[in-house]
Amino acid sequence: MVEDWKSYEPLIIPDIPNLHRIEVYEEHDGYRAFRRILDNPEEWSRTNVTNEVKAANIRGRGGAGFNAGLKWSFMPQPDERPRYLACNGDESEPGTFKDRNIFEFNPHLFIEGALIAAYAMSVDVIYVYIRGEYIDWVRIFEKAVEEAYEKGYLGEDILGTGIDIEMYTTYGAGAYICGEETGMLESLEGKRGYPRIKPPFPAQKGLWGNPTTINNIETLANVPLVINNGADWYQSIGAEDHNGPVLYGISGHVNKPGVYEYPAGMPVEDLIYDVAGGIRGNKELKALIPGGTSTPVLRADQLEGVSMDSNSLRDAGSMMGTAGMVVLDEDTDMVDLLWRITHFFHHESCGQCTPCREGTGWLEKVLLKIKNGEGEIKDLDLLLDMTTQMEGRTICALADAAAWPVRHTINRFRDEFEERCKKSVHAVA
Ligand SMILES: Cc1cc2nc3c(=O)[nH]c(=O)nc-3n(C[C@H](O)[C@H](O)[C@H](O)COP(=O)(O)O)c2cc1C
Ligand code: SF4
Repeated sequence: MVEDWKSYEPLIIPDIPNLHRIEVYEEHDGYRAFRRILDNPEEWSRTNVTNEVKAANIRGRGGAGFNAGLKWSFMPQPDERPRYLACNGDESEPGTFKDRNIFEFNPHLFIEGALIAAYAMSVDVIYVYIRGEYIDWVRIFEKAVEEAYEKGYLGEDILGTGIDIEMYTTYGAGAYICGEETGMLESLEGKRGYPRIKPPFPAQKGLWGNPTTINNIETLANVPLVINNGADWYQSIGAEDHNGPVLYGISGHVNKPGVYEYPAGMPVEDLIYDVAGGIRGNKELKALIPGGTSTPVLRADQLEGVSMDSNSLRDAGSMMGTAGMVVLDEDTDMVDLLWRITHFFHHESCGQCTPCREGTGWLEKVLLKIKNGEGEIKDLDLLLDMTTQMEGRTICALADAAAWPVRHTINRFRDEFEERCKKSVHAVA
């Protein structure tokens, strides 16, 4: 757990006015990491760059927490095929809104990270897939891409090295499933965002059947920090086995919702009460969804001594996810909340797999019945049974993402659900 966080100076989104402009970014050592690599290709061979990032253990910020360098090392040796990096800025999970800040305030840090990743994996083309509703931030980002082309960091013969890397932006059209990595690849190919069965994994057969790596925007923004300062330095920030800076998106019933950058491993209670200004109206904390709505909710009494890193949250019974923290006060109606979450997943299911297509629909239907005062106690066990029928049986993790909140919210707030059922019309009958 991080204790000395009050002296932390942000690294991903430092407080520098106009950092989104390339000349300001360059004045503050921007593109230094990328230049360093290009100027010293022997010291910074493609393998060495990958190994340094792997040693730093940048855990994927898109939700799964996978070591970025290790993922890069899965790319096959270059052959005659084109190679791609697909950057995931779809950011559609409720409670998650942190990549937006990178597009707005420090887009070049991400571009530099993506360039370093492209160099390490011998990638020819980078696609950046951005949530369509982020159109204002897309415009800022596209200007940054234009500037990077003008300065010779992107395009043909980058800074006279003979290396060519292109970057294209594209936008989603409001579908959460297009953030799932293979759904995103389909969407990039111009098709409906249907996730693909794996294997084959994208490193072997990704965009148009060619080697492809998918990384989240924030994950890639961490890369220049590692190259500039080294893996050991990066490892010294944050918690054991979960390092580096994290953009915590804090929403819900707090006085100061927003995106806050601090090291991984922040005490949950400090984030809620210090950083986000405490609970609105001096109310009591009831629960926390720690990392986007797919991560299991924790009761307030489960949060003592818990920190925002994978190990601590796993021990507490949840997950880090995207670090999109939804804070819930004493007045929160957990039945209502769970129905709302389930409605989202049902609406967003792409429909390819029966357990997800039907399961999300039935979860929503039964929860609506309980919410409307027509539920029975046996419906709670029916819901729990349905979650076991859905989990791990589908093409992608959306079904799991829908099942977990149901299981954990019912188990952790069973009294509240039972109470609602006892008051229902059926209980009276
Ligand atoms: C339904 C669903 C939606 C997802 N949405 C996003 C998203 O919007 N952004 C994102 O980075 N990852 C999202 N992911 C995770 C991606 O599939 C993938 O793991 C991630 O982009 C990999 O990047 P990382 O290793 O750098 O975290 C989603 C996963 C699922 C199952
Ligand atoms: S799990 Fe759901 S969202 Fe994922 S592929 Fe299957 S039906 Fe589509």
